[in-house]
Amino acid sequence: MKLVKATCLLLILAFALIAVPVGSPRSQPGIERRINAIIARMTLEEKLGQLQQLDGEANGNYRPEHRDMIRKGLLGSTLNVRGAVRTNELQRVAMNESRLKIPVLFGFDVIHGYRTIFTVPLGEASSWDPVVAERSASIAAAEARAAGVAWTFAPMVDIARDARWGRIIEGAGEDPFLGAAMARARVRGFQGSEQSAPDRVMACAKHWVAYGAAESGRDYNTVDMSENTLRTIYLPPFKAAVDAGVGTFMSAFNSLNGVPSTANPFTLTKVLRGEWRFDGFVVSDYTAVEELIKHGVAADEAEAARLALNAGVDMEMVSRLYNKHLPALLRSNKVAQATIDEAVRRILRIKFRLGLFDHPYTDESRESKVIMSQENLSATREIATRSFVLLKNAQETLPLSKSARSIAVIGPLADDQQDMIGSWNGDGRSQDAVTLLAGIKTKVSQSTKIVYAKGCDVSGDSTEGFAEAVRAARQSDLAIVAVGESADMSGEASSRASLDLPGRQLDLVKAIQATGKPVVVVLMNGRPLTINWLAENVPAILETWFAGTEGGNAIADVLFGDVNPGGKLPVTFPRSVGQEPLYYNHMNTGRPPDANNKYTSKYLDVSWTPLFPFGFGLSYTQFRLSDLQLSTKRILPGGELTTSVEIENTGRRAGDETVELYIRDVAASVTRPVMELKGFERVTLQPGERRRITFKLTPALLGFYNREMRFTVEPGVFHVMIGTSSADPNMLQTDFEVAER
Ligand code: GLC
Repeated sequence: MKLVKATCLLLILAFALIAVPVGSPRSQPGIERRINAIIARMTLEEKLGQLQQLDGEANGNYRPEHRDMIRKGLLGSTLNVRGAVRTNELQRVAMNESRLKIPVLFGFDVIHGYRTIFTVPLGEASSWDPVVAERSASIAAAEARAAGVAWTFAPMVDIARDARWGRIIEGAGEDPFLGAAMARARVRGFQGSEQSAPDRVMACAKHWVAYGAAESGRDYNTVDMSENTLRTIYLPPFKAAVDAGVGTFMSAFNSLNGVPSTANPFTLTKVLRGEWRFDGFVVSDYTAVEELIKHGVAADEAEAARLALNAGVDMEMVSRLYNKHLPALLRSNKVAQATIDEAVRRILRIKFRLGLFDHPYTDESRESKVIMSQENLSATREIATRSFVLLKNAQETLPLSKSARSIAVIGPLADDQQDMIGSWNGDGRSQDAVTLLAGIKTKVSQSTKIVYAKGCDVSGDSTEGFAEAVRAARQSDLAIVAVGESADMSGEASSRASLDLPGRQLDLVKAIQATGKPVVVVLMNGRPLTINWLAENVPAILETWFAGTEGGNAIADVLFGDVNPGGKLPVTFPRSVGQEPLYYNHMNTGRPPDANNKYTSKYLDVSWTPLFPFGFGLSYTQFRLSDLQLSTKRILPGGELTTSVEIENTGRRAGDETVELYIRDVAASVTRPVMELKGFERVTLQPGERRRITFKLTPALLGFYNREMRFTVEPGVFHVMIGTSSADPNMLQTDFEVAER
C-alpha cells in the first residue's frame, strides 16, 4: 500500500513540475542556467549596455558609432535598423568582436505589415475575425524576420473610447472583449509557438497602460480613472496578450492617476509581475524615462532613472539615463544590484527565446523570396476586403455593375498611394500601393469609361477643382467619391478637436450629389468621423479605413460585388465631437436619456445616440436571427450556461454576418454597463442557409470587480441579448438568474 501511495505522490509532484499554469514564467531550466552564467561574467557597464536601446536610423543605414558601442558591449538593442545585410553586419560585431558575444536585438514598428502593408489595426478589428489578425501578423513577422528584425513594437492593445485621439487607429477600438480577442490573435501571429523560427518575431504589448484614455483625446495627456475602470476596460487586452505568451511590454507616455506609467510600481510590478506573473521584459516608450522630469515626478535625470528601474522598466528606449546614472545610484544604494541583474535576466531570456544566441544571423537569401510575395499581396487584399464596413446602401446602390457605361472617380483620396498605406507603415512603399482609381480601372470592363477628377485636397480651402469634378460626374452614369483623412491625421501626435471631414471635402460631395447622379462615398480615415450629412443624403457609404498595399483592388472587389462586405464597427461613430468620449458599454445613470423627459441625461442640441453604433455593418444580403435559447434559466454563482440562436441568410447572395452576444448584469453592488460584449462569431452563409450559433457564458464572462476590487459573480438577474449590432432593432433578448446559493 505504501508503494502505491509513494508512486501517486511522485506522479502528482511530477505533474506539478511539468504543468505550466497560464501566465506563469515559461521558464526553461537550460536557458536560465545559461543566463545566470553570462550574468556572473558581466561587468556593470556590460549589464547597463543590455538595458539600453538606441535609435539606429541613419538614412536607411545604421549609425556607425553603434558598431563601437556593440563591440564594447554597451548597446544591446536598436530600433529602426533593418535589412538582413545591415543587421548581420552589426550582429557580427557583437558575436565576433565583443567580450561576451551577446547578440543584438533589432526592434522595429511592424504595426500592420513590414513591406506588404495590411489594413490598419482598426480596420483589421472591423473584420471581427481573429483569424485574419493572426494571419496578417504572421505574414508581417515572416517579412520582418527575413529583414533581420526580431522584435516588433506591436500589438498596440490600447482601448480607445475617444475618436479625437489619433492613435485609435492603431488598436482594436473601444471594447475589451473584442480587443482581447485581437490581442491574443496578433501575439500568436507574430510569435507563433516557436519564436526562434526564422519567420517569427517577439511581440510587444503596448502602451502599458490606459494611454487611450488621454483627457480630451489629446495625445500624451493625463489619464485619471478608477481602478475598477482600469481593470474592467483597459487591462483585459493586455492580460490576453500575456496569456498568449507575449514576450515584451512597452510602458506608456501617460501618467495614470498621478503616477507616470513609466514609473508606476502598481502597474509595472504589482499587476504585471505579481498578479500576472509576466516573465518577459518591459521597454520604455521613446525617451519616456527622461520625460519623468517633465511629468514632475523626478527632480533630475538620476531620479528619473531610479524611479523607472525600481518601478519595473527593464530597457530604456533612446534616452540614456540608465547608463549615465545607475552606477552612482548603485554606489549610493538607491538601486540594488539585484534589480539591475533581474532586468538583464529578463532581456537575455527573450534573446534566448528568439534563438539569437544559437542563430544570431539572418539568412540573407530569404528577404527577396519572402518580402512582397504574390501570396502576401493576395493575403493583404483578401484581409482588407474583410475589414470594410458597409455603412449605408440605400436602393441597393451597391454592388455596381462592372459593365457600367461610364463612372466618375472623384476625390482627393481616389488616386492617392501614400495615404492608402496609412500611418505606421513600416518599410512599406507608397509606390507599391494600388489606388482606388487603379483598382476600379482594373475591375471594370474594357467598354466602361472612367473619368477621374481630384476635386479638392484633403485639407485646405480651395474649391478650384470642383468644376472639373462636377463635369466628370455630369458626363457619367454614377460617381464614386473618395474622401476622408490623410494618413498623417491619425496615428501618434495626431489628435483632432473636430471629427468633420477636413477641408472642403463635404462641399465637394454636396456638389457631386447636386448633379443628381447616384453617388457612392468611399471613406478612407483613421477614426470615427461626424459624417452626418453623408449619412442623411448619400445613398451608399463604404468605410475602408486605410486598406494597405492592395487597397484599391480590395475596395473594387467590394464595390463591384466580387466580395460581399461583412465588417462591423469596432468603434462608435458620434453625431458630434461634443459627445466624445462615446461608447456603447456605458452605464445607465439614474436618469437615462428619454426624449420625452427634459430632466434626463441628454443634450439640448444633438441626439445622445450615435450616428453609427458599435458592432454595426450592413451586407449585400439580409440575415435574420431567431429562436434564442438558454440551456437553463438559473445557475449557481460558480455555474455556467450556454445560449444559442439561429441565423438565416434570407437574401439572394452569399454573405457574412457577425452574431454578437451581449449581457447586462441588471443589479449589482456597483453600477454595471447597459450591455457588454461577451461573444461574437462571424459566419458565412449561402442564400437560404440556416445555422445555430452557440456561446458559453462562464463566471469569467459574468463576473466583475466589486467595491473591494474582488472579481466576483453576484446573484441576480442577467439579460442576454443577441444581435448583429449593439443597437440592433431586432435584438433578441431573454434573461437568466444567478441564484444566491
Ligand atoms: C513611439 C510610439 C511607440 C513606438 C515607439 C518606437 O513614440 O509611442 O508606439 O513603438 O515610439 O517607434
